[in-house]
Amino acid sequence: MLAPMRYVTLPNTDLEVSEVGFGAWAVGGKWWGDDVRDEDSVAAVRRALELGVTLFDTAPLYGHGHADEVLRRALGKRLSEVTVATKVGVRWDSSGEHAQSDLSPTFVREDCEASLRRLGVETLDLLQVHWPCEQDTPLTETLETLRALKREGKIRHFGLCNYGAEELTRALEAGDLGAFQTPYSMIRREFDEALAGVVLPADAETARVGVFAYETLARGLLSGKFRSLPRFPKSDLRARDPRFWGTRFFRTSRWVDLLRQASVRVGEPPTALAAGWALSRPAISVVLVGAKRPAQVEQNVRASDAAARPEIIHLLDRVAAAYRG
Ligand SMILES: NC(=O)c1ccc[n+]([C@@H]2O[C@H](COP(=O)([O-])OP(=O)(O)OC[C@H]3O[C@@H](n4cnc5c(N)ncnc54)[C@H](OP(=O)(O)O)[C@@H]3O)[C@@H](O)[C@H]2O)c1
Repeated sequence: MLAPMRYVTLPNTDLEVSEVGFGAWAVGGKWWGDDVRDEDSVAAVRRALELGVTLFDTAPLYGHGHADEVLRRALGKRLSEVTVATKVGVRWDSSGEHAQSDLSPTFVREDCEASLRRLGVETLDLLQVHWPCEQDTPLTETLETLRALKREGKIRHFGLCNYGAEELTRALEAGDLGAFQTPYSMIRREFDEALAGVVLPADAETARVGVFAYETLARGLLSGKFRSLPRFPKSDLRARDPRFWGTRFFRTSRWVDLLRQASVRVGEPPTALAAGWALSRPAISVVLVGAKRPAQVEQNVRASDAAARPEIIHLLDRVAAAYRG
């Protein structure tokens, strides 16, 4: 039995979204291996929609815009009923293989217009800065550009990804930040302190911004499916991810056994537990979970229910505490 999806209204916005969002990086069809087929991706997005997912996270970077095309095809007319969160500010070099952030007002506008065209909408629900600036555009200028796009009706809300505590604190001052994305999982908790201190300080009753946690499955590692050292093709970004290499992989694998045991004990898939635990953290509003196939989505959406069950979260707290990076 699948419990109904839960929803959250993001602070500073009028966006009500599912607590489990569909992460569209892998369905972009590039960097995530040779086993990404559009037919499966479209079916995965549609299954997510059927199961109550109303937040879809994409980026111009994901398959050079192909993730947007997959979402548009899969969602059809229903695209206007859900929240599509996209990103801005990363520019490709001429090889199309290397990207660097460009948050100059001209490029932010250009990138935003390209997303509007690809998604076939007049207004983007949520436009997030993909990376902090590697060049010389100050954050204040970037925020001004985003506010101007909002005034012009090109975007409804804006957000940031991957910024540190200091810049996030500054960005929160005006009270108009729509979302903040950060990596977070049972085995990746270096942002615990910043999230608690900045997003949910002791004197605040509710979070100051909606935090979207990504890589809650550590790129599939926490699904428990890798029982021996995986060999990824060069086309899969995990071939270059040290979490999937030798000693580190085996060390994490021993810990993943604990997650598997918890899964058997509570009768929920490891992915629902891993994403559910991340979602249960007080400063996290949403987990963005990537999937390439409907069957993966069916497991992952269970995170919403797992997060709301104290007996599961208490057990997972002990499992998470046992991780030694
Ligand atoms: N703002 C940013 O800078 C940023 C950065 C990274 C990600 N994100 C967002 O966060 C989303 C999630 O992150 P992610 O996709 O990188 O990593 P993730 O959610 O940790 O892992 C997703 C991958 O795990 C595997 N998987 C998913 N469900 C599974 C299941 N039930 N059983 C077994 N394997 C399963 C799939 O790959 P295989 O089937 O190939 O194993 C899938 O592509 C992204 O799609 C993107 O929207 C944002």
